[in-house]
Amino acid sequence: MENRDRGNQSVTELILLGFGNLPELQTLLFLVFLVIYIVTMAGNILIAALVVANQHLHTPMYFFLGNLSFLETCYSSTVLPRMLASLLTGDRTISVSSCIIQLYFFGALVGTECFLLSMMSYDRYLAICKPLHYAVLMNDKFCLQLTVGSWMSGFLAMIIVIILMSQLTFCGPTEINSFFCDFIPVIKLSCSDLHVKIVLVIFLLSFIMILLPFLLTLTSYMCIISTILRIPFKTGRQKAFSTCSSHLIMVTIFYGTLIIVYMLPDTTALRDLNKVLSVFYTGLTPQANPLIYSLRNKEVKEALRKALSKTMTSITNHQLCGRHLL
Ligand SMILES: *[C@@H]1O[C@H](CO)[C@@H](O)[C@H](O)[C@H]1NC(C)=O
Repeated sequence: MENRDRGNQSVTELILLGFGNLPELQTLLFLVFLVIYIVTMAGNILIAALVVANQHLHTPMYFFLGNLSFLETCYSSTVLPRMLASLLTGDRTISVSSCIIQLYFFGALVGTECFLLSMMSYDRYLAICKPLHYAVLMNDKFCLQLTVGSWMSGFLAMIIVIILMSQLTFCGPTEINSFFCDFIPVIKLSCSDLHVKIVLVIFLLSFIMILLPFLLTLTSYMCIISTILRIPFKTGRQKAFSTCSSHLIMVTIFYGTLIIVYMLPDTTALRDLNKVLSVFYTGLTPQANPLIYSLRNKEVKEALRKALSKTMTSITNHQLCGRHLL
């Protein structure tokens, strides 16, 4: 409405600026992000499949890990394929409606990930700091409630933002200073008066969906670390400490970059930094999480070894029987 009053034409296509215009850089970026995408998908699909297929991984800790891995395959797929396609073809336009759909899934999945990570740290806190009560407190039902709750709150909360954002009109400029449709860069392009309200809603939601889970996660890890430091045996203490500190580093990078991007005021100095920081939470953490949480874990390694030897046996059997695999 507002834009008509101003006599502006509303636009239906936006342009994703990506990482600039250098042609040589585009090929390099394409290869880098292609590798990131393949590694992310392979690692996470592997973990989710192992958790689902292995009966003895059907415990809360592995359910959380499986859900996190499944989430990250979806999450990477909302951002990276589209970005790879535009690096490859050079076509940077995106329609306003695709942009809003991408925003919805991106926002919902980021929110779910924040909740899931904090649930996982709470689960570890109970297991390590309250071992005697763990089985009673973290039963299958509670675990199901926490995982389903995380998914639902992410997807429901984002509906509010999307309803508001679908009312925005764009009347140019149309260049989004990012490599995907991210909230703040898209909202800034709009010429509706509504955008002040949406920025406020996003700040409030970031507080609930990013900052609070981050504080819960930090508190859990602090309690875990202080318990670990009391372990009398040096070797056990070192191993637990190194596992725990790698988790802590990953969650700090993930939540920390999200907080800088979505909760700090949008200043010119931060704008280009934000683009770099968003590579961390879109590309880096989804790729590193399976390595950090699961593949160092003895039971996951064991399940992987069994699955591999089973696959090898069945491939050999197929070949022996002369069947075609395709
Ligand atoms: C996610 O969690 C639920 C319940 O906690 C579980 O039933 C489901 O198998 C998990 N999904 C994966 C992919 O691990």
